[in-house]
Amino acid sequence: MTTTTPAKGATSGALVPEVTFTIDDVEVSVPKGTLVIRAAEQIGIQIPRFCDHPLLKPAGACRQCLVEVATPDREGNLRAMPKPQASCTLEATPGMVVKTQRTSAVADKAQHGVMELLLINHPLDCPTCDKGGECPLQNQAMSNGRGTSRFVDVKRTYPKPLAISTAILLDRERCILCQRCTRFSNEIAGDQFIDLQLRGARQQIGTFDPAVLGFDGAGTASLFAGADGDGQPLTRAGGMPERDVLSGPAGPAETDTSGRPFASYFSGNTVQICPVGALTGASYRFRSRPFDLSSTPVIAEHDANGSAIRVDHRRGTVMRRLAGDDPVVNEEWITDKDRFAFTWQSAPDRLTTPLVRGEDGELREASWAEALTVAAEGLTTALDGSGVGVLPGGRLTLEDAYAYSKLARVALRTNDIDHRARPHSAEEESFLGHAVAGHGIDVTFADLERASGVLLVGYEPEDEGGVVFLRLRKGTLAGRTRVFSVAPFASRGLERLGATLLSAAPGTEPEVLDAITGRADGDLGAAAEALSGGLVLVGERLATVPGGLSAALRLAQRIGARLAWVPRRVGERAGIEAGTMPALLPGGRPVTDNAARVDLAAAWGVERLPATRGRDLSGILSAAAGGGLDALVVGGLDPADLPDPDLALRALDAAFVVSLEVRASAVTERADVVLPVAPPAEKPGTYLTWEGRPRPFPQALTSTALADQRVLHALAGRLGVDLGLGTLAATHAELDQLGGWDGARTPAPHAVYPEPPAPGAGQAVLATWHLLLDAGRCQDGEAFLAGTAPRPVARVGAELAARLGVTDGDQVTVSTEHGAITLPAVVTAMPDGVVWIPVNSPGSAVRPTLRVDAGAVVQVAAARPATDGDDA
Ligand code: SF4
Ligand code: FES
Repeated sequence: MTTTTPAKGATSGALVPEVTFTIDDVEVSVPKGTLVIRAAEQIGIQIPRFCDHPLLKPAGACRQCLVEVATPDREGNLRAMPKPQASCTLEATPGMVVKTQRTSAVADKAQHGVMELLLINHPLDCPTCDKGGECPLQNQAMSNGRGTSRFVDVKRTYPKPLAISTAILLDRERCILCQRCTRFSNEIAGDQFIDLQLRGARQQIGTFDPAVLGFDGAGTASLFAGADGDGQPLTRAGGMPERDVLSGPAGPAETDTSGRPFASYFSGNTVQICPVGALTGASYRFRSRPFDLSSTPVIAEHDANGSAIRVDHRRGTVMRRLAGDDPVVNEEWITDKDRFAFTWQSAPDRLTTPLVRGEDGELREASWAEALTVAAEGLTTALDGSGVGVLPGGRLTLEDAYAYSKLARVALRTNDIDHRARPHSAEEESFLGHAVAGHGIDVTFADLERASGVLLVGYEPEDEGGVVFLRLRKGTLAGRTRVFSVAPFASRGLERLGATLLSAAPGTEPEVLDAITGRADGDLGAAAEALSGGLVLVGERLATVPGGLSAALRLAQRIGARLAWVPRRVGERAGIEAGTMPALLPGGRPVTDNAARVDLAAAWGVERLPATRGRDLSGILSAAAGGGLDALVVGGLDPADLPDPDLALRALDAAFVVSLEVRASAVTERADVVLPVAPPAEKPGTYLTWEGRPRPFPQALTSTALADQRVLHALAGRLGVDLGLGTLAATHAELDQLGGWDGARTPAPHAVYPEPPAPGAGQAVLATWHLLLDAGRCQDGEAFLAGTAPRPVARVGAELAARLGVTDGDQVTVSTEHGAITLPAVVTAMPDGVVWIPVNSPGSAVRPTLRVDAGAVVQVAAARPATDGDDA
């Protein structure tokens, strides 16, 4: 007897009774409710299938998985079902007897028949189809199809390809109507942008905007009106405008920049799960054959989720990235950013040679020996002067972050180090030292879908979390999880989570958190009840709200919820654990704790470590700009991301700067020494997820580029210090030996919250966060992806819109004394006196333009219409 495990995608729960039946004369025991196709997999029997997917609900759409089935009647006599059954929709029952194509001529004939039917209209264009060589239809046509076709008529054709977004193309004649793409969009992402249209032989996938092209509405009627009278498929020649087949326009905040409505952050998953070449990615189409590619399983670098991906490369060039299969993290799904945004690593401005600034003030190429010598001399001079600050940036592996941390303390003798290349606060620093550093893995992805309640604070899971959003949605759809969000408005992502909005203007979040008690009525009381034993997820943005993180800690303690901090960038958690912070040493050791310093000094083989807490990023930049620090060692950061980009540029201009960068940037432009470092595809390392989960990955591409850790080891050598981190193995050995810290931790912050800002006439409080797809440098060079980014808009409440005299689509200008941003308005249900714009989208660069952040009071006005004189 074989006992099988729960089906993939199932969550653990109460014990389920087992069912025993036979497949191809093998007796199988599976949990009640298991599908026959899953049970067969578990004993090594592969039933052909197209529409079946373990993470999607059964559809029975393609009929390829037919098997012969008999079940016992009430008297126990075996009764054969009259026709073959779809094994992907059939649950196993006690005593059932299943015969697959291996043992049943009936099943085999049925599968051959379905294959013949599917191939009637499917083109035989495998030599030019992107899917050729990795196509389930091609493979199964070989294993379960006929050697010759009996179909002699003309196959159905369509105009091709349709760009259903700038990133996704559709060749309808290849579609076998398995509904994997539509089921993914509806069930997993919750983006109902594509669906089946029409019926019978003309049934096809199309983009779907219910407001314009309802299945029972005028849009569908116009499709039929445009069809040829003889029932031929619609083509351009048949007079059917392609635009009508797609759909009409959607609202300004919902459409993508291409004007097409398949505007989903997760659209690339449909390309990967399409079992034929009907859906293809615009960036990969016709660029390679699967058998030309080498594949390396790695970890995506775009967010703190550490999603498993596969890099497919050919002769040193990455051709595409696919989702890996990792049930504990991203299951089989990734964001379009993780999938499509990889060209930044090989952009034309990639740095490959060290640079030093010559006497003429220009950067010139140099040998590694010369560049390291010049860098060491400059840093030595600074150490003899007012010192060196270290800004590693938030995208590092654990190994690289550890090297920065050790270099700062041992070679540069400073705690002036901060990886937080974003708005930050002293309260946040205490919070991270108290509630995050050294905590290991506490809250996990799996917990997100099991929790009774999840509260989001300063965190927009779709824009800032990617696959976190998908896990939360899985839990809410299963009816297990109720999501609450403290935010100024219910975004489209929150609506798709069925989340309850606990409305808060920027700066009032702590008040709302303190109001969540068991004694509260309405949504606050419901939140308290659901969150007891649930989760509080706080985003990095809460650092901009005085008292916010303190209130989140109080709340979690008061109602018995677990708390997790979910940053955006991949290197944030590694930086915290490695101690790239002014008051934190590796493993959560507080800088100001004597025992912690002694412990670490012993491990590092040095006499003592700097004892005073260092300056944070803003303090380091202020000091450098004002002559209080003579030099900076800067990792991968963009001044435009920092709280005050202008201060950053002044600091870079004033100090001696050693820059470790992948590509030319505003930092390298101002650096005295530029040391090129390897992008993620060209080095091995370990990312830490927001959970604290190590995600080791190998080097995908052959390269001579060096990881930051090796460059820092060499630099320390020139400073006369053996960092001991010359290889990955040496770094791992040291990290293992160092271990954790079980001494005193950083005390919890107890920041009070001030009165929230009160905007006057013509003013509003700024709300802002990053969209997943925006103007970030890690999306450079990927125009197809950029076309799917949401259009930047300015959201205002109805009262503010009325005062401004604007309606949807009118231009609104948000300004400070430093600059102005003008965007189309979208009137949104949100607190009065608040305006929301994206942090860093095209035309909306908040920090460089306005030089403020969320919670600031800004001017807001209807944009003055352009006049002829404006051009003069
Ligand atoms: Fe299936 Fe692909 Fe057609 Fe979608 S486009 S229904 S995934 S064959
Ligand atoms: Fe069973 Fe498609 S795999 S009907």
